[in-house]
Amino acid sequence: MADDTRTLDPISGPFRAGVNIPGDKSLSHRALIFAGLAGDESEIVGLAPGRDVASTVAALGGLGMRRAGDRYEPPGVPVDPGAPVDCGNSGTTMRLLAGALGATPFRVTLAGDASLSARPMQRLVDPLRALGVDLALSEADTAPITTGAARLTGADVSITVASAQVRSAFELAAIQAEGESSIDGPAGFRDHTERWLEAFGLASTEGAQTKIRPGPIPGARYEIPGDPSSAAYLWASAALVPGAQVLTPRICLNPGRIGFLGILEAMGAEVHGEVTGSIHGDPIGTVSVTGAPLQAVEVYGDTVAAAIDELPLVAVLGAYAEGITVVRDAAELRVKESDRTLSTTAMIRALGGGAEATDDGFAVVGTGFLDGGNVAAAGDHRIAMAGAVAATGARGPVTITGASAAAVSWPRFYDTLEAAWSSR
Ligand code: S3P
Repeated sequence: MADDTRTLDPISGPFRAGVNIPGDKSLSHRALIFAGLAGDESEIVGLAPGRDVASTVAALGGLGMRRAGDRYEPPGVPVDPGAPVDCGNSGTTMRLLAGALGATPFRVTLAGDASLSARPMQRLVDPLRALGVDLALSEADTAPITTGAARLTGADVSITVASAQVRSAFELAAIQAEGESSIDGPAGFRDHTERWLEAFGLASTEGAQTKIRPGPIPGARYEIPGDPSSAAYLWASAALVPGAQVLTPRICLNPGRIGFLGILEAMGAEVHGEVTGSIHGDPIGTVSVTGAPLQAVEVYGDTVAAAIDELPLVAVLGAYAEGITVVRDAAELRVKESDRTLSTTAMIRALGGGAEATDDGFAVVGTGFLDGGNVAAAGDHRIAMAGAVAATGARGPVTITGASAAAVSWPRFYDTLEAAWSSR
């Protein structure tokens, strides 16, 4: 590839910016898959940009969903694509489709890129097979996955892994089963699928247990709010500069997505959130974050699931804070788009900070500053973007190698960050 680096110079002073954040990735995947399973046409406005959601659009297109602008017409009965469905780098595409396609009249193979093909898929096997899904994995328990060609029967399962993707896969299969189902598991998860199924009369959730009734998903309109996992880069950048402020309207505020806002507050940043609406039962609102001198924090327990994609940013903030920041109970970091315990700590060290990976997380020494330097994105969009945020208050420039990884979730990220830095 041509030169795939991006260099960011540290800011020259506190900034104040209002930023419109692109559509939420988790909700975009779900809106598309709900539209693909629906009985009639749906409308989806404000889909997330980036390669991951494009993978879901292309996968569903290959299975017969037709698109005209914002309108999506489901195939009724899916069309056999006759070749493996390419899920690219997107774990959500692969895992949700493994369940959503569990009852197709033919077998479907789901394949992915090298990173996705190394990620664990065994976690899908027990819950989906309990419904009768004929699921097969590679010998290494990874992708390619084969699913479909089964008649499904309701089942009651309990999962041990804290994964919204596994829950959603089960629920999307369970609505196509004969009889009711239920799923229980660790708390703190993003319950987008559960809330939408409830809004359509197909589920109810109490604590961490969701009961699912079989039935058709209606065609619906989805106006996708901004992605809190994308907004988090702007929030973090403001948080580490006393007096800097970022305001982000119309953000998805699902409780399972905003653990990072609690972490920012615990570290000393000023956080204001106001719920202004909802999408099929999932709250939406405005968030502002104002920077302040930061203190170290310990992140563990249920907060981990609710901040899982933002933990590289916790490391960056930890470096700029006072004290030692510790993240634990986060072994899932090892199986994200990279081994994020390693890629996160390597990022901090490459910038002159102190960080150690542990079995289930990491520790970062807060010195109050970073020198700058060269961060390897490790093929992971969230490391590329966290590295750019680290430049905010650094003593020298930060260069991201493999910078284009950001396009998996936010192609215009670097330009948006730099534009925010230059507004006063
Ligand atoms: C996602 C769930 C999380 C998250 C991922 C998106 C989703 O993964 O890390 O970026 O949309 O359901 P797990 O379910 O594996 O925790």
